Amino acid sequence: MAQLFTKDTQAIFWNNNASAIQRMLDYDYTIGRETPSVAAIVAPTSSSKFEKFFWGADEIMIPLYKNTTEAKSDFPNADVLLNFASFRTAYDVTMEALNLGGFKTIMITAEGIPERLARGMNAKARELGVTVIGPATVGGIVPGAFKIANVGGTIENIINSKLHRAGSCGLVTRSGGLFNELCNIISINADGIAEGVAIGGDRFVGSVFIDNLLRMQDNPEVKYMLLLGEVGGVEEYKVIDAVKTGKITKPIIAWCIGTIAKYYDSGVQFGHAGASANAERETAAAKNEAMAQAGIYVPKSFNDLPKLIAEVYGKLKADGVITEIVEPQVREIPKVRKSKNFVCTISDDRGEEATYCGYPISSVATPDTGFTIGDVMSILWFKKRYPRWAVDFLETVLKTVADHGPAVSGAHNAKVTARAGKDVISSLISGLLTIGPRFGGAIDGAAKYFKYANDCNMTPAEFLSYMKKQGIAIPGIGHRIKSVRNPDLRVSGLKKFAAENFPSTPLLDYALTVEELTTSKKDNLILNVDGTIGILMVDMWRALGYSDEEIDVFIDAGALNAFFILGRSIGFIGHILDEKRLAMPMYRHPWDDILYDIQTAPEI
Ligand code: ACO
Ligand code: LMR
Repeated sequence: MAQLFTKDTQAIFWNNNASAIQRMLDYDYTIGRETPSVAAIVAPTSSSKFEKFFWGADEIMIPLYKNTTEAKSDFPNADVLLNFASFRTAYDVTMEALNLGGFKTIMITAEGIPERLARGMNAKARELGVTVIGPATVGGIVPGAFKIANVGGTIENIINSKLHRAGSCGLVTRSGGLFNELCNIISINADGIAEGVAIGGDRFVGSVFIDNLLRMQDNPEVKYMLLLGEVGGVEEYKVIDAVKTGKITKPIIAWCIGTIAKYYDSGVQFGHAGASANAERETAAAKNEAMAQAGIYVPKSFNDLPKLIAEVYGKLKADGVITEIVEPQVREIPKVRKSKNFVCTISDDRGEEATYCGYPISSVATPDTGFTIGDVMSILWFKKRYPRWAVDFLETVLKTVADHGPAVSGAHNAKVTARAGKDVISSLISGLLTIGPRFGGAIDGAAKYFKYANDCNMTPAEFLSYMKKQGIAIPGIGHRIKSVRNPDLRVSGLKKFAAENFPSTPLLDYALTVEELTTSKKDNLILNVDGTIGILMVDMWRALGYSDEEIDVFIDAGALNAFFILGRSIGFIGHILDEKRLAMPMYRHPWDDILYDIQTAPEI
């Protein structure tokens, strides 16, 4: 892999470090990337499902996940992990990603991972061919393609340092701060960088100088390299060997900082954990001397570095190795941006014609479109177009629950309200408000508890005793008038539909074994219409390939009761119109139907 990142590279960002992620997205937008460089964020403690970020003046949503495994399974092409975990968790996060596979590069920002762990982690990455940048780094950049987090600073600074498009220098440093400074120096004295990595300041880092320089040697965009080493370690000698043996043929400019160390009596550790010389050959002066002897361009001091860069760059340009860069257009990030308060992912009314999940209304409304009301429900409620058998099931449910006569709680309320002179909407709402755990609103509960019991492999007896302990009547079991002897034909109809159309009905099969037990205790403890709907919906979603987590989200959101609410609204409206048509007077409940038991309230 000659190039570390491309314009299509996407990362999973571990930790919701919103400002760093925003900087990446601002960079992406500026350089004209099509896709955001951050595909997903791992935020183990967040309860949110996504985070909003600016994309130019607009906003986009990036999904949040509890762990890397889930994020990677939804974004298998995201092959960079930006590990922004603290030093306490960074090791575990890296190891999880290495064991998971599919990552080409892992960047670790934390400083101070225990050295024994860091060595094991780096060795494992090397064995698997994964490039580790860090620990203790700001990261790296391939200008015009992909930038890690805060590298290069603000967008203004990035453009000033020509980090928005590829130049010709390959830059490798230990230090992150000096990385940015060198990008600036190179942009002033040459044409910027083609690729740059700050390998990190810890004593044991993943990819070392030689790994990065060998990759840059193979990268045709890189015409010369700049290595900024520092006092401590012997990694620079591997570079010297590569130059001597001809593995690296491109010109290298190099400098090791920390030459001041010789003015101290004893070894001094500079900022980084690795920046301390344990032997003479680890001193900056010795390394600079050895690099110069090997034919590497080494300035007299750091102050002379800019001049040397200008010289080497000038020579390569004169020789025709480097050609003039045509400066690209950049997209400007607006100075003032407003975050949006609402998010909508199902319909859009901004164009000439409003759309339902991408389908213009005219493409779904009339019978010739092939869309039925079930298709419209499937796209607006679940954002997917379901196969015909599933759409037919949704419609069967609506039709099945549309009404059950005037005596049931909701219809009764709707009728009383209409007779009190209220309008359709008020009467409808008063009917709808009765839908709940006892009446019509046991569908979500049935799905939840039967699914749970089945997932836990509970026998029917265990399930009954579990629910008894919870003190909850099993949602979906029992009916006021229907029983084994007076079966609910709606339930028979739904079961027949499922038997003829569903690929399989494992949860219904389980529920029927529970029903056998409950009806053996009491004749009316049948699997009722709510229960049958809730349980078959789970069977339907499983057959459609939904994961358990996705199904749980639907259940928790109340999506199943919504079928009863929508279907029964048809019946309630019918009853309300009936009342209006009949011009029925206000209803007053008869005294003889009320047990009055009133005591005079005692004084306290
Ligand atoms: N789970 C366990 N035991 C039950 C259940 C149940 N779901 N339903 C009733 N029982 C038991 C009661 O504990 C009671 O036992 P007991 O005689 O030992 O005290 C006995 O059956 C009678 O209870 P009631 O509440 O009087 O039963 P009723 O027939 O009046 O209730 C109802 C019907 C409200 C539907 C009830 O069965 C229930 O709450 N079921 C769960 C909720 C549900 O599924 N509702 C949707 C119904 S369908 C629809 O509305 C479209
Ligand atoms: C209904 O659909 O409303 C019912 O099953 C409730 C009932 O008591 O009939």
